[in-house]
Amino acid sequence: MQRISVIGSGTMGNGIAHTFAQFGFDVALVDINPGALEKAMAIIADNLDRQIKKGIVAEADKLSILGRIATFTRVIDGVQTADLVVEATTENLEIKLGLFAELDRLCPRHTILASNTSSISITKIASATSRADKVIGMHFMNPVPVMKLVEVIKGYATSEITTNSITAISKKLDKVPIESNDYPGFVANRILMPMINEAIYALYEGVADEAAIDTVMKLGMSHPMGPLQLADFIGLDVCLSILRVLHDGFGNPKYAPCPLLVNMVTAGKLGRKSGQGFYTYG
Ligand SMILES: NC(=O)c1ccc[n+]([C@@H]2O[C@H](COP(=O)([O-])OP(=O)(O)OC[C@H]3O[C@@H](n4cnc5c(N)ncnc54)[C@H](O)[C@@H]3O)[C@@H](O)[C@H]2O)c1
Repeated sequence: MQRISVIGSGTMGNGIAHTFAQFGFDVALVDINPGALEKAMAIIADNLDRQIKKGIVAEADKLSILGRIATFTRVIDGVQTADLVVEATTENLEIKLGLFAELDRLCPRHTILASNTSSISITKIASATSRADKVIGMHFMNPVPVMKLVEVIKGYATSEITTNSITAISKKLDKVPIESNDYPGFVANRILMPMINEAIYALYEGVADEAAIDTVMKLGMSHPMGPLQLADFIGLDVCLSILRVLHDGFGNPKYAPCPLLVNMVTAGKLGRKSGQGFYTYG
């Protein structure tokens, strides 16, 4: 696999494109929003500069890495020769189902279609295509160039060949792939989101304040970031929507989102991106 198409050039898409290009792959980066593509290329250049300062990337390689990324605003122009498509568009079921049906029509028969979704069922996404054996989850973590983990999610019909290909290519990106079956939240969010929700409940019930809750987890459990700070970083709307996927998917009240989280999202307090969450930013 050499030709990689990344669909969606937001937070995750630009990091995924950056990482594939850094490790020598040819990348087609597609976004319906030309402004998002421009912003993505500027972010990739900045992040490469950061890697150069840290000695991770050689200064002499910067231009060739950037030169391996071509940008497109129409899916049809960016996927026709792809060996692998990694979809990183907005977390919305309708968008992903429509896009995967389109990718199935436009891509060569051998192309693997991967999704970076945090919570949508890979089996459901695969049902929009006629190649469910070649549809898989490739869940990178934010920020992609830095974080080692790739959660590889096997849908109900994903073949072993597809899973092995994604595991192998993840290793070529110097990542550590971990296989998971396709159940709500996979592994990462199934464990992380209940912890964040419990931290919000502790705040809601007045057990301790924000700084105290985060400090307990940082100094007591060696977490690099407290759960409330992490929730702000991920986005409180994203946390709420993943908790709803867990709650609906398992039907178990233990996943019910804390009413404080629901109120904050309703009030537009979404964390770092809105300037206000459990902490104030900017
Ligand atoms: N942000 C995170 O920390 C994180 C971590 C892991 C996984 N994810 C998952 O990655 C995916 C992307 O998340 P993000 O945070 O990068 O989102 P984002 O909002 O930053 O970017 C999404 C991009 O997709 C583009 N887009 C929307 N519909 C499109 C279409 N039909 N064709 C082409 N481009 C389209 C948008 O213009 C936007 O630029 C989601 O599925 C999310 O669940 C996010």
